[in-house]
Amino acid sequence: MYYPEELIEEVRQKSDIVDVISGYVSLQKKGSNYMCCCPFHGEKTPSFSVNRARQIYKCFGCGEGGNVITFVMKYENCTFPEALRMLAEKAGVELPKAEYSEEARRRESRRMRLLEVNKEAAKFYYVMLRNERGAKAKEYLDKRRLSDETRKNFGLGYAPARGEELLAYLRHKGYTDDLIRDVGLARTDERRGTTTQFWNRVMFPIQDINHRVIGFGGRIMGDADSGPKYLNSPETEIFDKSRNLYGMNYARAARTGNIILCEGYMDVISMHQAGFVQAVASLGTSFTPGQAGLIKKYTKDVLLAYDSDGAGVKAALRAIRILREAGMSGRIISMAPYKDPDEFIKNLGQEAFQDRIDHAENSFMFEIRMLEREFDLGDPEGKTNFHNQIARKLCDFGEDVERENYLEAVAEKYHIGLENLKKLVVNMAAKTGGYAVQIERPKSGIQRRNKNTPEENARKSQRLLLTWLTDAPHLYAKIRNYIAPEDFTVELYSRVAKRMFEDIEKNQLNPAGIINMFEDEKDQSEAASLFTTTLPELESDQAREKAFNDILRSVKKNSYEYYSSRSGGDILAMSRMIEGKKALEELAKTNISIK
Ligand code: UTP
Ligand code: MN
Repeated sequence: MYYPEELIEEVRQKSDIVDVISGYVSLQKKGSNYMCCCPFHGEKTPSFSVNRARQIYKCFGCGEGGNVITFVMKYENCTFPEALRMLAEKAGVELPKAEYSEEARRRESRRMRLLEVNKEAAKFYYVMLRNERGAKAKEYLDKRRLSDETRKNFGLGYAPARGEELLAYLRHKGYTDDLIRDVGLARTDERRGTTTQFWNRVMFPIQDINHRVIGFGGRIMGDADSGPKYLNSPETEIFDKSRNLYGMNYARAARTGNIILCEGYMDVISMHQAGFVQAVASLGTSFTPGQAGLIKKYTKDVLLAYDSDGAGVKAALRAIRILREAGMSGRIISMAPYKDPDEFIKNLGQEAFQDRIDHAENSFMFEIRMLEREFDLGDPEGKTNFHNQIARKLCDFGEDVERENYLEAVAEKYHIGLENLKKLVVNMAAKTGGYAVQIERPKSGIQRRNKNTPEENARKSQRLLLTWLTDAPHLYAKIRNYIAPEDFTVELYSRVAKRMFEDIEKNQLNPAGIINMFEDEKDQSEAASLFTTTLPELESDQAREKAFNDILRSVKKNSYEYYSSRSGGDILAMSRMIEGKKALEELAKTNISIK
């Protein structure tokens, strides 16, 4: 959905940043700023500062910064349009409804209808669990030690033994049998007519990230006596099992920086009950690339808490590959000696589990450890084969440093001579066509941008110049003859410069408004960083002045070089080049005072 810029700006202006942030955390006034402990990283002394005049926030601990909209996006973990809608609603600004085609509108209204049926069914099951007919189900959940709060949180319910009751209830609410069937709550056959999908089971509503019930899982209460342990809704127009995750509606707002992937609904529920609200599970099917994509919107750090049995290990190995292909790292939480997270937490508790999280095993080392089980290391041939397999896997690392690091770690752990293993890897690479080509591989979270390349230096001076002007807008008048938005060769900076210069001309520099020009989250935070970066402290005014002039010349020089290299045939570039040359000559003779 695209909203016009003026409207976005109106919402932003009507949403005072101090008021909005106060709704989430408690702010303390300190001088002209408001401070609190940063909600985006753990800390004990406040370094998160909100500035009312500028309508921006900044954390001096983790560097996070932006305006009221980016705050809501970060805090609620939602998209730009979602944050905008939330703020608009609070501020009483009406946003235009999306213009749908006839077809799209019909589809949407059908989806809404299907969701309604599910919601009604969930309500019905919920009530059943809480009246006398749900006594056995209640007893079962007691036995599994789920608190009332947990039951409520996950909307747990009970499908009574007589399936027709749900049908009667839904029909009474005005839903047709077709609709009830299409949403997967009933089926029709010639002999028995319409019958419900779930009866005499504890019900787990499955919600999408917006808390809408898209399907159900139902568990029998005894041990497998009547049918499968879990029965799930079939895939429907609103239930795509490969793109949703159980618990993700809560996990998306967990501020843990990671996601814990489990196998079962019960695992997720007991993890949440123990405070690990970042736990999610797939939906009765194995983990899919679509689900990896969903997680990746929130974090790249995934911890696997799969069952410790053979099937669990197999599933974990599969999930690791999927995560890796999606460019994410996986770490494995050991459940031993228990079967799954649910059992583990029941027996050893929350702290012990946290300790397992802290000691989660790197996915590559896990793979090698599992590989080891397949070979008889007492037998020379088995050992050779094992080492060859290790070498083969090491070839999957396209980056030398990374491969080296793993090579050393494996050599040490399995007592293989370092040089021998290196030789094996080189031979293997020669045989199999070299090392893998690196596409996108997670690094320990640290972005590596090559330092000191000409591009990076140019970037840096452009950024510094803009930051300087935000700090001291009066300087713009002194440099306007030398500098234009086009001199900022980084596109984002050029857009910022254009808007900023216009604002300064009108004497109304508006940092928060400038951040709004960008819809992409990365761009927003890059723009925000311009306004929240602190300039290097220099001892003397003289040194500051020299720095400013150097930065200005450097921006101009880069611009000149940039346009010179493009001036063949391009009139615009040509004229920028000529202008640049003149300006550079003048700047060489001039010193701009920063007073
Ligand atoms: P588990 O058998 O490990 O179930 O299957 P669980 O969630 O740990 O539940 P409890 O603790 O035994 O009650 C893991 C997941 O596999 C799917 C379900 O999604 C389940 O949560 N599953 C399992 C089915 O869809 N059908 C089944 O018959 C069994
Ligand atoms: Mn389980």
